[in-house]
Amino acid sequence: MPSVTRLQITPLGCTFAAEVEGIDFSQPIDDGLFQELRDAVTKYGVIVIRKTALDDDSAIALGRRFGELDSVRAHRLAGRVMRIPNDEIFDVGNLDDKNQIVTTKDPNRHATANGNALWHADGAFNPRRTGISILRGVELPPKGTGGHTEYLDSRAAYDDLSDEKKKEIEGLIGCNSLFHNRKVANPDSPLFKDIDPATKPLAKHKIAQLHEASGRMNLYVTSYCHHIDGMDLGKGQALIKELFEHCQQDKYKFVHHWQDNNDVAIWDNCAVLHRATHGDYEGKYRRDMRRVSVFDMGPTAYGENDVSTYWQQGLP
Ligand SMILES: [Fe+2]
Repeated sequence: MPSVTRLQITPLGCTFAAEVEGIDFSQPIDDGLFQELRDAVTKYGVIVIRKTALDDDSAIALGRRFGELDSVRAHRLAGRVMRIPNDEIFDVGNLDDKNQIVTTKDPNRHATANGNALWHADGAFNPRRTGISILRGVELPPKGTGGHTEYLDSRAAYDDLSDEKKKEIEGLIGCNSLFHNRKVANPDSPLFKDIDPATKPLAKHKIAQLHEASGRMNLYVTSYCHHIDGMDLGKGQALIKELFEHCQQDKYKFVHHWQDNNDVAIWDNCAVLHRATHGDYEGKYRRDMRRVSVFDMGPTAYGENDVSTYWQQGLP
């Protein structure tokens, strides 16, 4: 660790989350400063940086310094028409491919918004999971109309489990599906009504695992987790529910209220959970949010999945 730090870090939540100042993204970021940024993300799980000078290209370049980037190709192949031509930008706001505000008349995008409002870790439904997410509020809706992002400290949630529970879940493997999240989030949608997620390709990741960068254990149970590998379905789903509810207690929660255009949040999906929230802005005001996703670069990035049969799940 450098003896003189250049970042100013202000903790925001009880156990995690911080606001970071001291980086001018319009200038080159030297290795020492980037390492301080990386260390802050590792320690706090999620950091907020206000009024950055990042654009699509510099956000992608920043993402590449964390590791190899994921892309939207799986969603494009599934039939989604993209507003933003760059495959390394995930378009997660409320604008359609014609740059118009999405309404409930767009069943796919409406279902996606509902799905993202459930607690999740980005990319947990893929065999190669996501590590760092960099989310930029390019154009925010008027203040007071909602659209904040919420986070859970899943490392603290693990720490607080009893020794017996930690022993019980050691080595258990969650079977994850994007369809499970969408089905739960959209119970009345004909898009998912007849789909059994268990019949779809499942991404297998241990539900408790070491977060290598911090040396702390993390509870990796998200709304994509359909069942526990090899366990009776009902028993496994009851365990998932128990752990998921434990993690969602207010004491583990931090709410990020977006303030200004080009505010940025950077988080580690192997250390926190997050969700988007609904708000009055939906259907009325533009909310242009763009994410760069970095693959987990650690040894458990591929979980318990067969790397020789690599696939990614995508939806229109
Ligand atoms: Fe997300």
